[in-house]
Amino acid sequence: MTRILAIETSCDETSVALFRPPRTIEANLLFSQVEIHRPFGGIVPELASRSHVERLLPLMEETLDLAGVGLGDVDVIAATRGPGLLGALLVGLGAAQGLAFGLGRPFLGINHLHGHLLSPDLEEAMRFPALVLLASGGHTALYWMTDERSAWLLKRTVDDAVGEAFDKVAKLSGLPYPGGPAVEGAARDGDPTAFDLPRPRPKDPAAFSLSGLKTAVRRQIEWVDELSEHFVADLAASFQAAVGDMLAGALDQALSHHDGARGVYLVGGVARNRHISGHLTAVAEKHGLDLRAPSPVYCTDNAAMIARAAWSRYRGGERDGWDLQPRSRWEFGRWEADE
Ligand code: KG4
Ligand code: ZN
Repeated sequence: MTRILAIETSCDETSVALFRPPRTIEANLLFSQVEIHRPFGGIVPELASRSHVERLLPLMEETLDLAGVGLGDVDVIAATRGPGLLGALLVGLGAAQGLAFGLGRPFLGINHLHGHLLSPDLEEAMRFPALVLLASGGHTALYWMTDERSAWLLKRTVDDAVGEAFDKVAKLSGLPYPGGPAVEGAARDGDPTAFDLPRPRPKDPAAFSLSGLKTAVRRQIEWVDELSEHFVADLAASFQAAVGDMLAGALDQALSHHDGARGVYLVGGVARNRHISGHLTAVAEKHGLDLRAPSPVYCTDNAAMIARAAWSRYRGGERDGWDLQPRSRWEFGRWEADE
């Protein structure tokens, strides 16, 4: 049985996983840089790269120890190639290429978005064709997947990603970094109808847009002298409700146009948000489908999902070369409109 070692270093998490298809995760370890970036209220790319360099090899040793295997027992080596921070990507990609070269094993450079899209399959076989909504800190997009390697892009953000908007709203409201969980926590005590925030619906049916909503939140903050706990809770709840409505509207419309869907999935860091996943679950139910989201550890960045995407390419006969370069920007999927 094939054993894949995968490395993820695209952003602020160093992660290493050992995976045996179809869904045995022997180990999936993660070092989060949250404490390193917290004083700056956001990710500092140079500090991210340096921390990946310091943490990657010890984490790899720990991962192998935990699974009780040696490097010689690994059959395939994979790493995230992009999109992400170039300096951060280089650390994981270079390490994986060196390791694969030294061990004489096949190597694959994986699209991070492909990893997120297949993350539900780590726990339960995905049903295709599927509608998959990816909502993370860097990306917000809706895909139609006909199988595990073929994705059509239906809609994506033209400005901020949903997670990024959560992070910015948190910062404006004086909530701690990282913003997503902080906004969700504050919203628990708030009234979602307290502020009448817009539900942006761009004219272009292939676009999500969050900048208008973010500006509306900023304006509410500028009007008050003091950010009381009560005010922040109401604003967080109103913002979260607006995002939920916006995503639910998009999913509802997509499900109406794709009545052959057998699966519907919510992936990426924002899938950890209970209000949003609950709202989208209700939409899917209306169409007779059961929306699935991965367990929280597989929603946010992790190497297990990179190993899973590597498996889909490896078994399709794909291999990458030693000269593969990282890519800071890199789409996944084709535009349905172009077909
Ligand atoms: O998938 P991910 O780990 O990284 C990217 O590939 O971008 O997603 C991280 C994003 C962050 O913006 C974070 O604020 C958001 O996911 N996030 C949340 C929650 N937990 C994490 N957003 C809303 N509610 C949450 N509970
Ligand atoms: Zn991610």
